[in-house]
Amino acid sequence: MKRANSGEVAVITGASSGIGREIALVLDSVGYDTVLVARRMDRLLALSERMKNNTTIICADLSEQSECERVFEEVCDENVQIMVNCAGFGAVGSFSELPLERELQMIDVNVKAVHILTKLFLKKFKEQGSGRILNVASVAGLMPGGPLMATYYATKAYVCSLTESIAAELKSEKSPVTVSALCPGPVDTEFCDVAGAGFAMKGLTPKECAMYAVMETLKGKTIIIPPSVMKAARTASRFVPSAVTLSVISKYQNKKLN
Ligand SMILES: NC(=O)c1ccc[n+]([C@@H]2O[C@H](COP(=O)([O-])OP(=O)(O)OC[C@H]3O[C@@H](n4cnc5c(N)ncnc54)[C@H](OP(=O)(O)O)[C@@H]3O)[C@@H](O)[C@H]2O)c1
Repeated sequence: MKRANSGEVAVITGASSGIGREIALVLDSVGYDTVLVARRMDRLLALSERMKNNTTIICADLSEQSECERVFEEVCDENVQIMVNCAGFGAVGSFSELPLERELQMIDVNVKAVHILTKLFLKKFKEQGSGRILNVASVAGLMPGGPLMATYYATKAYVCSLTESIAAELKSEKSPVTVSALCPGPVDTEFCDVAGAGFAMKGLTPKECAMYAVMETLKGKTIIIPPSVMKAARTASRFVPSAVTLSVISKYQNKKLN
């Protein structure tokens, strides 16, 4: 993997746990200074102690627009070369039953925060003539929908669509800046506990997922699907009617309720 030049900075949201934490460790291992963003300060402090390069901690609740803007303001004078939008969460349950407040908070973190930070960093990266954005979506975002996780699937579809459109704009402008969407299947993190899922398919380790994600981001790949059974499922979903895919997803999500 290509090493960072001295003083190059990577900002990672969702760095207190799971995929974001591992992406931060991988970026540190290839020489980036890191800015770790999440709400749980104790977790970020523990992670910062493992870093070989300079680390800054920003405690922020990204469900609030002003907090997203503060994160950008705190780092915008630094030599940021990588922005990773990884903070996010899901919720399992029927659409009519899940609490509206929880879903709106999900939309704030999974969609609005990603939108705001992508816009702010993209502008900076275009001005400086370099930079890579990695938006952590999900293979869920490439499916026609996700019964019993309807809002979560919809938020990730937004991230995939937004990322692909921006990537096409950058390509047509011949910009050196790149934007990628990471679309993993199941990864063994705290995600299922937070989502209230009673069942989890055995997934990739967060480290495997993070290594692949960083490698492909540095190559400028737009849609990144780490190899797993879900990659095959995504390919298969292109060739079967949406109704069949939705029924298979529905059966899988139903297990999470039991
Ligand atoms: N695990 C999977 O199977 C899987 C598969 C595909 C995609 N993903 C995506 O991967 C990303 C990371 O999830 P994960 O699996 O690593 O789960 P995780 O271990 O639960 O990590 C979620 C991260 O998001 C942060 N976060 C949540 N709400 C936040 C808020 N309001 N403000 C700031 N940070 C917030 C959490 O930090 P604090 O709680 O400390 O704030 C935590 O660092 C998510 O976007 C998820 O949708 C996960």
